[in-house]
Amino acid sequence: EVILPPGLRRRVDTHLGEYISQKPKGMNAFSRSSSNCSIATDEGLFEQLEPLPPSKAAMEKIIWRKSQQMQGEQLIWQQSPEGRKMMEFRSSLPAYKEKDAILSAILQNQVVIISGETGCGKTTQIPQFILESEINSIRGAMCNIICTQPRRISAMSVSERIATERGEKLGDTVGYKVRLEGMKGRDTHLLFCTTGILLRRLLADRNLKGVTHVIVDEIHERGMNEDFLLIVLKDLLPRRPELRLILMSATLDAELFSSYFGGAPMVHIPGFTYPVRTHFLENIMERTGYQLTPYNQIDDYGMEKMWKMSKQAPRKRKSQIVSAVEEALKAADFKDYSAQTRESLSCWNPDCLGFNLIEYLLCHICENERPGAVLVFLTGWEDISSLKEKLQGHPVVGDTSRVLLLACHGSMASEEQKLIFDKPEDGIRKIVLATNIAETSITINDVVFVIDCGKAKETSYDALNNTPCLLPSWISKVSAQQRRGRAGRVQPGECYRLYPRCVYDAFADYQLPEILRTPLQSLCLQIKSLKLGSISEFLSRALQSPEYLAVQNAIEYLKIIGALDETENLTVLGRYLTMLPMEPKLGKMLILGAILNCLDPILSVVAALSVRDPFLTPMDKKDLAEAAKAQFSRDYSDHLALVRAFEGWKVADRDLAGYEYCWKNFLSVQSMKAIDSLRKEFYSLLKDIGLVDSNPVTYNTWSYDEHLLRAIICYGLYPGICSVVHNEKSFSLKTMEDGQVLLYSNSVNARDSRIPYPWLVFNEKIKVNSIFLRDSTAVSDSVLLLFGGGISKGDMDGHLKMLGGYLEFYMEPATAELYQSLKRELEEFIQTK
Ligand code: CDP
Ligand code: MG
Repeated sequence: EVILPPGLRRRVDTHLGEYISQKPKGMNAFSRSSSNCSIATDEGLFEQLEPLPPSKAAMEKIIWRKSQQMQGEQLIWQQSPEGRKMMEFRSSLPAYKEKDAILSAILQNQVVIISGETGCGKTTQIPQFILESEINSIRGAMCNIICTQPRRISAMSVSERIATERGEKLGDTVGYKVRLEGMKGRDTHLLFCTTGILLRRLLADRNLKGVTHVIVDEIHERGMNEDFLLIVLKDLLPRRPELRLILMSATLDAELFSSYFGGAPMVHIPGFTYPVRTHFLENIMERTGYQLTPYNQIDDYGMEKMWKMSKQAPRKRKSQIVSAVEEALKAADFKDYSAQTRESLSCWNPDCLGFNLIEYLLCHICENERPGAVLVFLTGWEDISSLKEKLQGHPVVGDTSRVLLLACHGSMASEEQKLIFDKPEDGIRKIVLATNIAETSITINDVVFVIDCGKAKETSYDALNNTPCLLPSWISKVSAQQRRGRAGRVQPGECYRLYPRCVYDAFADYQLPEILRTPLQSLCLQIKSLKLGSISEFLSRALQSPEYLAVQNAIEYLKIIGALDETENLTVLGRYLTMLPMEPKLGKMLILGAILNCLDPILSVVAALSVRDPFLTPMDKKDLAEAAKAQFSRDYSDHLALVRAFEGWKVADRDLAGYEYCWKNFLSVQSMKAIDSLRKEFYSLLKDIGLVDSNPVTYNTWSYDEHLLRAIICYGLYPGICSVVHNEKSFSLKTMEDGQVLLYSNSVNARDSRIPYPWLVFNEKIKVNSIFLRDSTAVSDSVLLLFGGGISKGDMDGHLKMLGGYLEFYMEPATAELYQSLKRELEEFIQTK
């Protein structure tokens, strides 16, 4: 008896039917259990098993038998006590009542749009309905269903939930696949994946061969990837007439999608929720006796903007604002703040402890309100962890015998996830701090109280200034209603909105789709790598096409950085960038860091730029915090300061002093941990695409060459560049497009009046009143000459023209000549490498 290795096991299994009907010579017995497969032969050889290709009839027979077996297993499960309970739960969901309508719509139409209240069972039930109807059909489980989710965590938690509902192990019939992780077996017929994974699969398999159903979930979120996928799928449908596309959405904008797909039918699942009482900021203060003090007002939820909005609100609405709010807000008198303070005020800053009101409110609920879980909507996991830390020290909210405090965000561990769904013991109040993931993707049934900060972190993009920002911004009315609805699933609920009614009135009705509010560079690269033709033509076929200017900016940018050539084709660099799922500028740094053998610090820079700024600037300790950051700087670079801060933390953490180190240096522990894990993730990505081998010694040879690091940072951040103009005592900064710009006050370069280099490359510019630069590194002429722009064949002239604008003053004919020859040498070097 031999145990077969997994690859062969699969082959044997595929041809099982054949072997049974035409037993190969020498094979005596064949047995298979779920975990292994054994064959006894005369010689003990399994070479003999090389395929006799199975006939179509044999395949059908196998599939049919398999389906019979699956049906049988499900029947047994559904009759077990647990299975019966699960079936009872499933059939109580609103989606269950619409099962027949949904299945017949899918049978008769290539595209179907399904909408229904969050929690009605779209995500967990509909894929199962399709799966079950296929298994029970005459032809058996020929189906191969792919269901996309906007986030990793939902792909993982939903597939796990469905496996539990079916009494199976994850990876049997139901599996998932997300970046760098997956659980999927040969019997998997229903696969949950992130939208990005399906897009990547389309790269290799343009017709989605073998896939019978594609379900795109949460389309109401209008994420960029989802909008992009819809264009690709719309093109695919005529080529694959038997493929079924099902779109699922929480809110009722189904018509938009229906008309996009030529009037595809819509099925609505009617839901039921209990009434929820709404308390705006003014009511909260009245109800709980909370006083806004000047300190509390300078809080993260953008009181400044709130104040501005209340000014802009129509007169009659203003009368509704309880005068206390307005008085208190006025007292803070934001007009007197300097431009830089205003800027930091409007940015999210957890350490100025604007969580006072939430803490107060949670304590109030714990002490005075009826039992029921509390769901708090915050903007991101950094804020969640800071608030959690703060609450843990609270005498009431932090008392673990009374309160179960949980976090819910995209990157949490799966054990933690389970606790979120479970009902706690009697007498214990569950409090879940969540990002807007709990708005529609995850449903926590026992929530009775919702606290809504009114914001979500979203990227916005100003095409005119070509300036992207990732900042918490006000949510839309639809989102606010959705958040409120989370409180009424099991009984009437309460929703506390941490903003006055006039602010709510000023909210937009819907949120703009992501494709209209973010830079399109990565999307354009993806379009090119999928060989989808002209970028602007392709994007003009989107559900809502982005502005012409935004598309042109993105293409122009990609040409400047050398990812696209003049004819909009991918360069070698561009091709590598499409394999790195991050902003192209960060991808460029990683690639060059790997080529020039100084990956270690560059991994830290790239990871640090992918998380929130690890350097914290508490309002009341601004000077101390900035001084602490300055210690890490010796070389006029915020990026290198990040590297040193991280390396220091690594050493301290090894001696279990990581927390103390962060506290002393005004660093965020969460960011440090995130950087640490991202570094590993990025490293394995580079390994996957063959840019590093597994010898960590060689890839770090030049890690301590500060000039080289500067060059790599410049290579990534170009054309994010400004010139440093020295005056008598200080300096001013200018970019070609914006003229005068300012440094964000916590930049190490803002502290020094003499920067010994003529240029700063920067990571990001943010427009508030003036334009502020965040994270900069000073670079010399030669670095800019050699590393600014893309190093790719053929773009030399265009690149020189671009640089010429900056270098008008510096570019002596001799320099230009030197540049040309150096550049050529470098280009040759890169080619041979
Ligand atoms: O997708 P939709 O919002 O319509 O609902 P769903 O995610 O399919 O969830 C249906 C029901 O299953 C909800 O009542 C959830 O509370 C429950 N569920 C659960 O108990 N555990 C999970 N991991 C996922 C869903
Ligand atoms: Mg769902």
